[in-house]
Amino acid sequence: MSKYKTKVVSTGRFIPDKILTNDDLSKMVDTSDEWIYTRTGIKTRRIADESVLELAYLAGLDAIKKGNVDKNDIDLIVVATITAEQKTPSIANMVQKKLEIENTQVMTFDLNAACTGFVYALEVASALVQTNFNKALVIGVEKMTNVVDFTDRNTCILFGDAAGAMIIEKGNDDIFFYNDSKGDLTDLLTVDDKIHMDGRKVYQFAVDIIPKSINRVLEENNLTLDEIDYIIPHQANVRIIDSFIKTLNLDRDKVLINIDKYGNTSAASIPVAIDEYKDDNANSVKNVLIVGFGGGFTWGAAIIKI
Ligand code: COA
Repeated sequence: MSKYKTKVVSTGRFIPDKILTNDDLSKMVDTSDEWIYTRTGIKTRRIADESVLELAYLAGLDAIKKGNVDKNDIDLIVVATITAEQKTPSIANMVQKKLEIENTQVMTFDLNAACTGFVYALEVASALVQTNFNKALVIGVEKMTNVVDFTDRNTCILFGDAAGAMIIEKGNDDIFFYNDSKGDLTDLLTVDDKIHMDGRKVYQFAVDIIPKSINRVLEENNLTLDEIDYIIPHQANVRIIDSFIKTLNLDRDKVLINIDKYGNTSAASIPVAIDEYKDDNANSVKNVLIVGFGGGFTWGAAIIKI
């Protein structure tokens, strides 16, 4: 069980302008709007001209502006991503430079937990701000088009580009985590040069692990679903989301679904969704449960106050 005392200071996002529709994709591979929408819930996804660094920077800047944060109070930057154009320096390190943060001491690093990346990064940052760090900027960013094979209809219809960010500090709100992984399903979803995926097996894994993760983070912290105001899941397939809604007998209005607009943006999907949720619920603090899963496999859930 992991529980920390934090405060979510602010959130932000950056969504690239360029839209790729299902009809656009049907001109590239043998597919159709009807097939994609009924199998995945996706209508459009975004394609970035920006680099992973620019996407991350713009989401971070949005969080800094929305929270009226002095950028020089930030002394920890953690970036969850699997699509950086280069192995080093880290995106987090370059975000520090681009933001011109002039602290005497700043720790910056990237984290790879595929689509669970943001939940993992948030736990790492939450633990570190319990020590002597002041403010942590946590970013989930993906330029999936860097790794999508646009000749493979099994995968190219699913993914999109985006970035989301959150600034946290040590505070009075409880934040609960259950993060987990298993290393024996590594061949189901890999990204070397391009994405390779056994979609059906990934799907089966996801529909099993998501409700279990939700129950686990609740049970370990003696909470019930009734105490959760809203659920923000990783956006991979609307059928995966509808499956856990059914398993847990949830009210669909209590679950954020934006996959129709963005597709699967991997580590960016949860922080983007959180920021959208916050825009619509600016003046009320709510108990929100986030849940993700991704390659490895990795998975995790957290309960935060936003
Ligand atoms: N357009 C049209 N037909 C397609 C297609 C496409 N884009 N992609 C696959 N097909 C075909 C397949 O070739 C197959 O044809 P066949 O029956 O003649 O062999 C048929 O559609 C069914 O394929 P299948 O893979 O069984 O479809 P599905 O219902 O499982 O849906 C996914 C495929 C990928 C949408 C679904 O498995 C999925 O979402 N999996 C999870 C992926 C995921 O979330 N990954 C990220 C994890 S973070």
